[in-house]
Amino acid sequence: MLVQDRVAVVTGAGRGIGRACAELLVREGARVVINDVEEAPALEARAACEEIRPGSAVIHVGSVADPKATDALMKLAADSFGSLDILVNNAGITRDKTVHQMTDEWWDLVINVNLKGTFNCIRSASPYLRDTSKLELERDGRVRYHRKVVNFYSTAAIRGNPGQINYTAAKMGNIGITRTIAAEWGRFQVCVNAVAPGVTNTRLTQPKTAGSEIGIPREQLEATIKRIPFGRPAEPEDIARVVLFFSSPLSDFVTGQEINVSGGMQIP
Ligand SMILES: NC(=O)c1ccc[n+]([C@@H]2O[C@H](COP(=O)([O-])OP(=O)(O)OC[C@H]3O[C@@H](n4cnc5c(N)ncnc54)[C@H](O)[C@@H]3O)[C@@H](O)[C@H]2O)c1
Repeated sequence: MLVQDRVAVVTGAGRGIGRACAELLVREGARVVINDVEEAPALEARAACEEIRPGSAVIHVGSVADPKATDALMKLAADSFGSLDILVNNAGITRDKTVHQMTDEWWDLVINVNLKGTFNCIRSASPYLRDTSKLELERDGRVRYHRKVVNFYSTAAIRGNPGQINYTAAKMGNIGITRTIAAEWGRFQVCVNAVAPGVTNTRLTQPKTAGSEIGIPREQLEATIKRIPFGRPAEPEDIARVVLFFSSPLSDFVTGQEINVSGGMQIP
């Protein structure tokens, strides 16, 4: 039970990696707020968590791109479970086009969810993560425990990926956010780290079909998988275990760090 009685918010937790994170955090003793922009998958994820432990999960339906929604999301954690200790900034989307075809609409959408969403969530969580830690330090000389932020970037962003100017820019921006908030909140003993999934088996990486907005062209997907020494894409649980490490006391003296979870794929 690595996160016994901690309260976590996981964004985009209705499916894929976020859902695996929510379930694993619950298995390890946490209570979670499952955020997603879509209600149906959020309800399914809550049912899965409730099956692991009744009373372990509530849902919040709203976009991380909306600062009012992220304020309400963090407040829901405190109102439902009494605190907020772990923030997992997982929500992310792709809308791929090469630069000469990229629209303002898809640029803004992807930046607003993947990058501004991370900023919105951290700012909205600040009263619970930063201020609570500050109060404990002033009052008791020590924090009760290290609070945690886990951000998401991507091996595709480190490498640079044709067709993903919006996504790679947003994900590399999340490294800047990680290092900056680690520096700002280090004195309050809040740990801020980031994970870069490699190709992971979710709907984001399904072979692209005609007319679909997300997915990867089949040849590109197969070529990328060939470069993975472990010979397979990650499963969402492979990523969730590293998120658990960054959410748990095992990483209490680690902050401002990034790690690739990519089955050994060398980048670039
Ligand atoms: N799958 C991969 O290969 C891969 C690789 C590198 C990084 N990532 C990153 O991992 C994270 C999770 O990706 P995934 O593969 O599980 O994707 P996914 O599409 O399977 O799940 C993402 C979830 O986020 C939700 N979501 C989308 N926009 C949202 C918003 N504005 N507010 C709240 N929720 C929103 C979706 O409804 C969905 O349920 C993302 O940040 C993604 O960029 C994934």
